[in-house]
Amino acid sequence: MRIDVVSIFPGYFDALELSLLGKARQRGLIEVHVHDLRDSAHDKHRTVDDTPAGGGAGMVMKPEPWGEALDGILSEAEPDADPLVIFPSPAGDVFTQTMARELADETHLVFGCGRYEGIDQRVFDEYASRGRVRLVSIGDYVLNGGEVAAIAMIEAIGRLVPGVVGNPESLVEESHEEDGLLEYPSFTKPANWRDRSVPEVLLSGNHAAIDAWRREQRIERTGRVRPELLSREMLGRPPGRHAAE
Ligand code: ADE
Repeated sequence: MRIDVVSIFPGYFDALELSLLGKARQRGLIEVHVHDLRDSAHDKHRTVDDTPAGGGAGMVMKPEPWGEALDGILSEAEPDADPLVIFPSPAGDVFTQTMARELADETHLVFGCGRYEGIDQRVFDEYASRGRVRLVSIGDYVLNGGEVAAIAMIEAIGRLVPGVVGNPESLVEESHEEDGLLEYPSFTKPANWRDRSVPEVLLSGNHAAIDAWRREQRIERTGRVRPELLSREMLGRPPGRHAAE
């Protein structure tokens, strides 16, 4: 998978050199190219924003630097890549594990990270008329720009790219995967810590009992924390991917 990112703060994306994604990049499973939007702004101050047409608070990102930056990336895309351009935005579709799975199947993602009050609407319209564009939100809160949202999405998508996570089994029983339940609580050694014990069943060696306990815990936790994720059908179903996904 190839990922291009356009931002006026390329330094944010240094974090993608760390940990699992950093290793995946070294191994050539994911290629990440970060572009400074200001390299496409050619006045003395490398200006990327201007006052909003019609008035109002804040500044809006000018279309010309975005046009130059995105044209450059898209013109160099592989002929059959059909890149998907994603603009992180609180006004977009909400990012979910289901969307992460869909996006992990893409060969080329381009993240356009806006700042200020957003990007001139004509940029979205231009690239939507030429290819695939999505506005995507990571939740109902407002960040200062798209960078942190893009990093969250790239991490969630990148770890689903085959080979990135060493043991694919570890992807299966996580929150929001498999059957839509939250994950069970985990424990390790020592068996006692500050008068708190690891639940006895986990030390029993009885794998059927352990599986049953973990499922109960997942259902209890989901009902308590995220009751909207529980459905009667889900509770009746044996483990396996949920049909609605
Ligand atoms: N930019 C600002 N807030 C955002 C959010 N919640 N999701 C995605 N991009 C954003």
